[in-house]
Formats: sequence, structure tokens, C-alpha cells
Amino acid sequence: MTANLRLDRLPRTVELARAADGAATLAYVDQRLLPGKLAIERTADWGAVVDAIKTLAVRGAPAIGVAGAAAVALWAREAAGGDTGAGEVSAYRAALERTAEEIACARPTAVNLRWAVERVLGRARVALDGGAAPAAVADALFAEAKRMEAEDEAANRAIGAHGAALLRQGSRVLTHCNAGSLATAFYGTALGVVYAAAEQGKIERVYADETRPVGQGARLTSWELARAGVPCTLVCDNMAASLMAKGEVDAVIVGADRIAANGDAANKIGTYGVAVLARHHGIPFYVAAPISTIDPAIADGSGIPIEERDASEVLPVAIEGVDVWNPAFDVTPAGLITRIVTERGAFEPDKLVY
Ligand code: MRU
Repeated sequence: MTANLRLDRLPRTVELARAADGAATLAYVDQRLLPGKLAIERTADWGAVVDAIKTLAVRGAPAIGVAGAAAVALWAREAAGGDTGAGEVSAYRAALERTAEEIACARPTAVNLRWAVERVLGRARVALDGGAAPAAVADALFAEAKRMEAEDEAANRAIGAHGAALLRQGSRVLTHCNAGSLATAFYGTALGVVYAAAEQGKIERVYADETRPVGQGARLTSWELARAGVPCTLVCDNMAASLMAKGEVDAVIVGADRIAANGDAANKIGTYGVAVLARHHGIPFYVAAPISTIDPAIADGSGIPIEERDASEVLPVAIEGVDVWNPAFDVTPAGLITRIVTERGAFEPDKLVY
């Protein structure tokens, strides 16, 4: 029963740091290379961070939020240059707003990205309104992004504690996609619940859906759980129904990319189907996500933008005459969700407090 939980073996997914010469850098795990290779990239180039987000080198809603905030901070440092006069400060401000918008648009579904970019941008506006020079703004943005990185881990640990209380001893948990440490700065949301429950000896096993087409479950969740010492069984997406029918699943726990005001939750494509299966088999279905994933401006799931990705993810070798539809996310209606677990507690979807 996971006596040997080894979270110390998990890398920090995204980590801002100061280089020896004082320059800001972002270190990130290039998740495209997992499970074959654990490679940490380090860059001071905000554009490289945007590229990493678009290509899924950095992925998972909270992780792309922290990376997006870091990208704004890296731009702010690069653009700060030397001495600046009043005209240059106003050009800096305009360019900052434009760049922040470009970063926020790198991926459309996870609201954490825009939330994080808006938060650092707000910090920059306050500093500039107060007469700060660009170099001081850059310092303030670095500090803010670093704070967000720490807050993300703290939120995940709180989610873990609230979620673990919902599980009983000997739980067999099914998860979809990767809402683990790799999807956050550290610790994870859905897998954060697993880790907190494992510390209490409650986890017998995690079933990881492979998660077609990109394979976040097959490549990332199974790697992460094995490394952390949590018993894991990898299943193809189309095996979940049989597994549930055999009575092998006690709870489903997934993450989310955006939760509408009514509790409808967008997550990796296939999550909705798992929720339908869980309801059919009488299995509780939990969504674990920080409050930054909640978008109160969107009334229900129909308003959540769903990213459509390249056909090559589904069909690596194109077949003439065959079209591919590749939505990266789907929406699970609130009615299929047993509880939404945030850093504040575990809520029925229509009673969500944020
Ligand atoms: O396309 P991805 O890999 O970024 O999708 C990630 C997910 O759907 C996760 O489940 C979600 O972001 C929650 S991560 C804690």
C-alpha cells in the first residue's frame, strides 16, 4: 500500500531561477521526451517558452499558467534594456501588453494560462503607474511569477489533503490524462490527491488511461507514478468500461482545464466518456483543480473554447480523402461530477465556493 512513496524522485516541472549573472531563466521538463528521457531545458527566451507551451513540451493547466507568467517576466527582463526615458517607458508598456496577449493565446482552453498572464500584467501596470523603470518592473514580475510557482504547489497540497479525505482504505483509482506533478509546478492535482492518500496508506493502485491521441496517461502518468512508487496499471482508453464492470475501480479522479460557473468542467478529450461510465457503474467521479481553473465569466460548459489540434496527432501518416477531427478537450456536465476538489475543500459542483 504505497509505503515507499518517493516524491523526491519527481522533478520540478517548471522552475524560475536567477542565473549566476543575475539573468532570469525558466527551467522546464521537456515532456515530449518522456518516458524515454528526463531532460530539463533552461531558457531565458520568452519565445522559447511560448513554443514549449504550444508544442506540449510544457503542458497541463497549472504548469502552463506558471510558464506563461514566467514568459512575461522573461520578456520584461529582455525588453528592459538600459536607461529609459518617458517615451521609451510608454513604448515598453504597449509592447508588454501586446506580448502578454500573445502569450495568453498560446493555448485556448486552460484558463490558468490567461489567469496567470493577467496576474503578472496587473502587477506590471501597478509598477508602471507608480513610475517604476522597466528594469524594476522586470524584477517585480520575476518575483510575482516565482510566488505563483510556490502558490501552485501549496494549492496542490491542499487539494491533495481535501481529496484524500474522500477516499477509503485500499482505493483503486482510475485517472485520465496527466493531472500529476508534471502538469503543475509540483505535486499535481488529481495525482496530488493520490499522493496525499498514498501517504495515508489508502491507495492500492492507480489505473492510468493511456489517453489517445497524445498519450499523456501512457507516457506521463504511468512514468510519474512508477517513479513516485505508486502501483500503476496502464490501460487503453477503451478498457475503462470493462475495468469498471469487473468492480476494479473505486473512484475516478481527473483534473480540469476550465470549470464554468455552473460546475461543468473541461478536461482532456475522453474525460466526459469516463464520467458517463462512472455514473453507469455507480462510481464517484471527482474533479481536482485549483481555484485558478474556475472561470466565473463562463456560465456553462458550452461557452468553454475547445482547442483543436493538428490532425497528425491522430493520424501521423495522412490518408488522402480522410478528414480528422482532433478536439483536445471535452466538457463533463456538472451533473456527472460527484465533487470538485479545490484548495478550499470538496464541493458539490453547484455549490462551488471560490
Ligand atoms: O493537452 P494537455 O496535456 O495540456 O491537457 C492536460 C489536461 O487535460 C489535464 O488533465 C489538465 O490540464 C489538468 S492538469 C492538473
